[in-house]
Amino acid sequence: MIAYAEGKLGTKTVETNSVDRIIAIGSDRMMNGVREARHTSLKPYLKDNHVAIGSINSPMQCMMKEVCAQCLQRHVNPHTGEEFFVFSCFNQDQHLDFVDFKNLNERLKANSIQEKLTNLWLDRALGRINN
Ligand code: FES
Repeated sequence: MIAYAEGKLGTKTVETNSVDRIIAIGSDRMMNGVREARHTSLKPYLKDNHVAIGSINSPMQCMMKEVCAQCLQRHVNPHTGEEFFVFSCFNQDQHLDFVDFKNLNERLKANSIQEKLTNLWLDRALGRINN
């Protein structure tokens, strides 16, 4: 992004300092990296008052908006310190500076064993492994 902002990747179609909204979609660590970079290495290239949104990939179950609570995402208001929770299946696009990425990473890791077991069952069901 810095190389693009500095014109090292060729002709720019958008000046980064004219951008009003940034949407980060990717892994929790990538989105947290974008969150941090906006306040450090990318700061000289961005508008001070831009809005940054992450498409938060919380673990989900029912996806019926406020039924099972599997998708709860912890937020902390960076201005007041207020803690609150968001149902990610109700609103996946969340303000990057409010999301508690440590909490999200820990919750995603909790699904790791289940995901590995599911992959093993799929491999067996699809004949990729024989026993
Ligand atoms: S996934 Fe069940 S309430 Fe969001």
